[in-house]
Amino acid sequence: MGSYSGIGLSTMKPCCCRILISCRRSSLFGFQIPICNHSALINLSKSRFKLHGSRGIHTCNSKFLGFREGGIDPKLGFRDAIYSNQKGFCGSASNLKGQPRVLLNGCLVGGNDRRFSRLVSKVASDFRNHSTSVESHVNDTSWERIYIQGGLNVKPLVIEKVEGKEENEEKVLDCSNSNVNIESQDTVLAKESEIEREAWKLLRGSIVNYCGTPVGTLAATDPADKLPLNYDQVFIRDFVPSALAFLLNGEGEIVKNFLLHTLQLQSWEKTVDCHSPGQGLMPASFKVRSVPLDGKTGEFEDVLDPDFGESAIGRVAPVDSGLWWIILLRSYGKITGDYTLQERVDVQTGIRLILKLCLADGFDMFPTLLVTDGSCMIDRRMGIHGHPLEIQALFYSALRCSREMVTVNDTTKDLVAAINNRLSALSFHIREYYWVDMKKMNEIYRYKTEEYSTDAINKFNIYPEQIPAWLVDWIPESGGYLIGNLQPAHMDFRFFTLGNLWAIVASLGTPKQNDGILNLIEEKWDDVVANMPLKICYPALEYEEWRIITGSDPKNTPWSYHNGGSWPTLLWQFTLACIKMKRPELARKAIALAEKRLSSDQWPEYYDTRYGRFIGKQSRLYQTWTIAGFLTSKKLLENPEMASKLFWEEDYELLENCVCGLSRQGRKKCSRSAARSHFMV
Ligand code: GLC
Repeated sequence: MGSYSGIGLSTMKPCCCRILISCRRSSLFGFQIPICNHSALINLSKSRFKLHGSRGIHTCNSKFLGFREGGIDPKLGFRDAIYSNQKGFCGSASNLKGQPRVLLNGCLVGGNDRRFSRLVSKVASDFRNHSTSVESHVNDTSWERIYIQGGLNVKPLVIEKVEGKEENEEKVLDCSNSNVNIESQDTVLAKESEIEREAWKLLRGSIVNYCGTPVGTLAATDPADKLPLNYDQVFIRDFVPSALAFLLNGEGEIVKNFLLHTLQLQSWEKTVDCHSPGQGLMPASFKVRSVPLDGKTGEFEDVLDPDFGESAIGRVAPVDSGLWWIILLRSYGKITGDYTLQERVDVQTGIRLILKLCLADGFDMFPTLLVTDGSCMIDRRMGIHGHPLEIQALFYSALRCSREMVTVNDTTKDLVAAINNRLSALSFHIREYYWVDMKKMNEIYRYKTEEYSTDAINKFNIYPEQIPAWLVDWIPESGGYLIGNLQPAHMDFRFFTLGNLWAIVASLGTPKQNDGILNLIEEKWDDVVANMPLKICYPALEYEEWRIITGSDPKNTPWSYHNGGSWPTLLWQFTLACIKMKRPELARKAIALAEKRLSSDQWPEYYDTRYGRFIGKQSRLYQTWTIAGFLTSKKLLENPEMASKLFWEEDYELLENCVCGLSRQGRKKCSRSAARSHFMV
């Protein structure tokens, strides 16, 4: 596609140059902000946001919050531009849905009380450094109401040096200038293998620019691919390993740009047949398009065109996007030391909008997040609707990130309490009901069914007959794993790799369970790793199951794609989990396997067959997250200290927190306290 190659890759077409010439840049806060020329702004002030069909298109003219009545004052810094906006826009809360963020944030920023703001920043940084004290709020769900009110009254954060920070801590903030080098470039170069050098070249070749600044990486860049579908877009989840590779290489600018631009897309008007999802939804992907400039023949401008699922195959909402966004935001802060990004008012609002969607009251009886099929990496029908492990692990991890990042003040304290309560309930639920090992399988095998009472053992009424034949022999003597999904009378016993790995990384499992998962992977190496790390799930659905569960999907045939295919991108998550569990040798073994084939196979998206021997039938080549996953794995192994910033240890405070109040009332012990001793092992 024409516009893709022109804008997406660093070589710009002449049309783009014209736009770039009309953009000036400000490098305030170490972040390159293109500031567009006057005529473009006048043009913009008439039609602030352009619509394409029912969707919003983000132009470089309309970016960021710094609008005044006539546009951005180039003399004002980004922060000042935000403040200058405060009187201009003040809509009511009921207007918030579907409004471009510029309106929302115009209202969010009010007042000039810098003393207060500094205090807020300070509290936030304390939060990061110490584990949060957990308060019990029985059935407290009022944070949402307060959030809306608080949203409109919230005071500005001062995006400046936080009091009490060390001088040298400040120095690492400017990652855009590549000052956060973990090792000197020379040492890094010396260590790099030929394959790594090729991978870096390919990764850099996949960078997408928007108005002259890098904002992400394309999903795939196979020059021979004549039908890229949406692989010529920047996917939120796919960008995570790219972002980590860049961050670990001391390059923060692209990640910061990505986080800020996707944040702008979050509030876009999005509809499927006149229905809009919640405002906090992050797109699955976005594309940078070059469109003719209004009234200027032959001139073009860059626009960001997000896809929230309204074009995606199956129209699935990407629930994982917002969770990954939060996880990446924290990683950016942790690796660069630049915490000012997460402290910004618009970024804080973005976090809260995502959490508002995830923590909203519904019909649920469980703390797990209820989603439709295909709402994550597996983005097609694969029988993972309900409470799939991958979403729960990412949700848990996003909550842990948010607990560190949400600025604590009067308007957010209920939100913080809601986060703590959910974290504690979620980890209990997963540890107790998703975990299977030899002992648990024996229990399930002998389950009594149809128990009607609050203290039923078989709470979900699982019929032992549903234990699949393959599992009877597969479950190892030691070790175990978290099952893929849990619903009434249904346990999905398939092993889903990403969910299990991320449960280790986020400490969703107990230390013993986390260890057990790695034991299982080691013991079942041929099933989970074999010739190419790692299988997305095990085993594949076959025959009638395949027909019913996938809807006879020809892409998800047994041992292909999402149905038991092998995805090299999962290598970085495996590496992170291995480093956390102090077993880097396992990761090295897997990386060595991948290194043998990835480059000569042209970096495929996935591999087929039971032992991952063939390049996937419909697999893209030069798949960016394959390349980035490989590079990130290498970087993580080289820098275990950096890696340790990306995972979490067990939080014993969370275990102590029980919100049901039963134990405090002394009437009877709640099931959670009863199970606690088991978790502590
Ligand atoms: C496939 C994958 C999805 C990925 C996308 C782009 O649809 O299932 O997880 O984000 O390709 O690479």
